[in-house]
Amino acid sequence: MDLQSYLKERAQWVEAALCRSTDDESIPETLRKSMRYSLEAGGKRLRPILCFAGAEGVGGSADRVMPAAVALEMIHTFSLIHDDLPAMDDDSLRRGKPTNHKVFGEAVAILAGDGLLAEAFYVLAEARGIDARLQVQVIADIAAATGGRGMTGGQVLDMEATGKKQGEAALTRMHLYKTGALIRASVTAGARLCGATQHQLSLLSRYGEAIGLAFQIADDILDVTGDQEELGKDIGSDEGKGKSTYPAIIGIDASRRQAAALVDQAIAAVVSFGAAGEPLRAIARYVVERKK
Ligand code: IPE
Ligand code: IPE
Ligand code: MG
Ligand code: MG
Ligand code: MG
Repeated sequence: MDLQSYLKERAQWVEAALCRSTDDESIPETLRKSMRYSLEAGGKRLRPILCFAGAEGVGGSADRVMPAAVALEMIHTFSLIHDDLPAMDDDSLRRGKPTNHKVFGEAVAILAGDGLLAEAFYVLAEARGIDARLQVQVIADIAAATGGRGMTGGQVLDMEATGKKQGEAALTRMHLYKTGALIRASVTAGARLCGATQHQLSLLSRYGEAIGLAFQIADDILDVTGDQEELGKDIGSDEGKGKSTYPAIIGIDASRRQAAALVDQAIAAVVSFGAAGEPLRAIARYVVERKK
C-alpha cells in the first residue's frame, strides 16, 4: 500500500471536520482563534488516522468514526498547548509555528486547552447514529486515557522525573501513561464504534500500547537526532531541561532497538486482521521511521 497517500488523505478528512466543528461564532473570538491556531497549525493527525485504521481493520469505515477522530485530535492538541507552557516544557516552537502561549499569552493558551478538551467530549456526546452503549464506552475509554489514568497522569510523572535518573521500568510506565494511553484509545475507539469483538479489541489494545510506547521513544530520539525545521519543534529541548527520556537513560542505540522490537510486537498482534490490517501494520513501521 502507498502509506504516504493513505496518511495524507485521512489527515485531510479530519482537518475538514475539525474546521467545521470549531467554526462557531458563539465561541468568543479570541478563544476561537487560539483553539483554531493550534488545530490548524498542522501535525501528523496520527491519532485520528489510527482511529480510522482501527475502524477499517474490523471492516468499518472512516466516516462512521469521524466524531471520535475529531475528539482525539482536539484532546491531543490541548495536551500539546499545555505541554508547551512555561510551567511545563516551556517551548516556543510547535508544528512549525510559535507555541500558542507565545502568540495568545499564557492565560488564553490555558483556556484554549480547556476549551478543546471540553469540545472534544461535546463532539463525542453529540454524535448521532451510533449505538448509545458503544458511544458511552468510547467516551469512558477516551476520558480514562486522557485523565489521571492516562495522559494527564503521565505528564505529572514526567514532571516529577525531570532532573532525576529514573529506572527503565518507571520510564516505560511514564511513556505508556503520557503517550501510550491516548494512542491505544485511538485505535480501539475506531474499532469499537464499528462493532469489534472483545477479542479484536484486546489485540488492537496490545497493538496500540506497543506503538504508543514506540512512538514516544521515537519522539525522544528525534529530540536528539531530528532536524528542527522538519520536526517543527525545538530540538535538544529534553537534554536542556534534564528530561527523563529513553536516550538519556538507555542511550540512542538501545532506544532504537527497543522501538524496533515494539513495532514487531505491534505488527504480530494484528497479523490475524489480514488485508484489513495492512494500514495498521504500515503505520506501526512509520511510527519509528518518521523524521517528524
Ligand atoms: C507530539 O505528538 C507529542 C507526543 C505525544 C510525543 P505528535 O508527534 O503526534 O505531534 P503532532 O500532532 O504531529 O504535531
Ligand atoms: C509530550 O511529550 C507528551 C504529551 C502528552 C503532550 P513531549 O513533551 O516529549 O512532547 P513534545 O516533544 O513536546 O512534542
Ligand atoms: Mg512534555
Ligand atoms: Mg514537550
Ligand atoms: Mg518530546
